[in-house]
Amino acid sequence: MVKIKKVSDFNLNSKKVLVRLDLNVPFRNGRILDQTRIVSSIATIKEILKKKGTPVIISHFGRPNGKRNNNFSLKKILPSLSKHLKKNVIFCNNCIGNDVKKVLENIKIGQIVLLENLRFHTGETTNNYNFAKNLTKCCDIYINDAFSVSHRNHASIDKVTKLLPSGMGKNMGEEISKLNKFLRKPKKPLTAIIGGAKMENKISLINSLIKKCKYLILGGGVANTFLKSNKFNIGKSIYEKKQLSNVIKIQKEAIKNNCLIVLPEDLVVSENKTTKDVSIYEVKKNHQIFDLGKVSLWVISEIINRSKTIIWSGPVGYFEKKPFDKGTDKIASLINSKKSLISIAGGGDTVAALKKNKKIKNFSHLSTGGGAFLHWLEKFTLPGIEALKK
Ligand code: 3PG
Repeated sequence: MVKIKKVSDFNLNSKKVLVRLDLNVPFRNGRILDQTRIVSSIATIKEILKKKGTPVIISHFGRPNGKRNNNFSLKKILPSLSKHLKKNVIFCNNCIGNDVKKVLENIKIGQIVLLENLRFHTGETTNNYNFAKNLTKCCDIYINDAFSVSHRNHASIDKVTKLLPSGMGKNMGEEISKLNKFLRKPKKPLTAIIGGAKMENKISLINSLIKKCKYLILGGGVANTFLKSNKFNIGKSIYEKKQLSNVIKIQKEAIKNNCLIVLPEDLVVSENKTTKDVSIYEVKKNHQIFDLGKVSLWVISEIINRSKTIIWSGPVGYFEKKPFDKGTDKIASLINSKKSLISIAGGGDTVAALKKNKKIKNFSHLSTGGGAFLHWLEKFTLPGIEALKK
């Protein structure tokens, strides 16, 4: 097995360290809604400073499609980053070019630089060699501490590793070691809970989970698509038309693999501004499904009691809006109350839902990754991890 170098393995004395973070935090009305990704980046920056290196931080923020756009400027993240580091951070309004060169030529040991959003340049998402060359120009070592974007074959994740001695940061190391420890050979029975609005980006994961899991519990828009495909009335609820034909294939495959797909028995629907719990046979044309019902939650609690490992991605209801957070909340409390249960959750919405209700103390691991978490579950690696092995 090829070993990946860690930030602690390098001599960083007087070296400029290009460090890839994922500072793509949820931001609304001038406020950062969840600081997790910033907080989990601090240890690596501190380690670089401790070893007398200069951190040159790079990150993306949103999807500005290769164009400069102030709404996606990393300057918005600067105050929070400085606050957590308890240190001023120098901001450079580009990530390549003369401005960066000037700043990096004059920088002193102990100082920290944050470069502007990588995705203001198309070269980032197209994994362009020249862009990577410009990015690495003034730096000596590259450290990837951005697990949550390492499923992307982007220049700051992949191409840069061809140009500088490379290794991984502390958060990346922790993600990999926890996911490996709990999920490579999981304690069985293994149960997966898959929710969220979209099934499209979870389809290949679902296909791989039915080969590994004893129970696959579905909620949210994913469950709606399964119900619709099985000819249940889901009223005005969201579902994915394109995925309807995949559902039956998945269900057949699950039977072959002895995996029980658990669909809701009852649901919380809204009807004329009121909400009620109805059986799946009672959903009417004007209903909108927003959460799992009591019987479904009882079935899920029985399954959780029988499981030794739980993987969870995607809230099972419209958790942002009360009272539709009850299903997700109940499942979180139940998992959290079982101290011997191995429980891994990932995805921005899932972790936000768990944090909102503070039901996280006993979870074995909360991944910073959304898409990256799903990708890892399926392949047990990410393109960004593989790039560091070469
Ligand atoms: C995420 O939020 O999942 C990561 O930051 C990756 O962002 P992306 O989906 O825009 O590549």
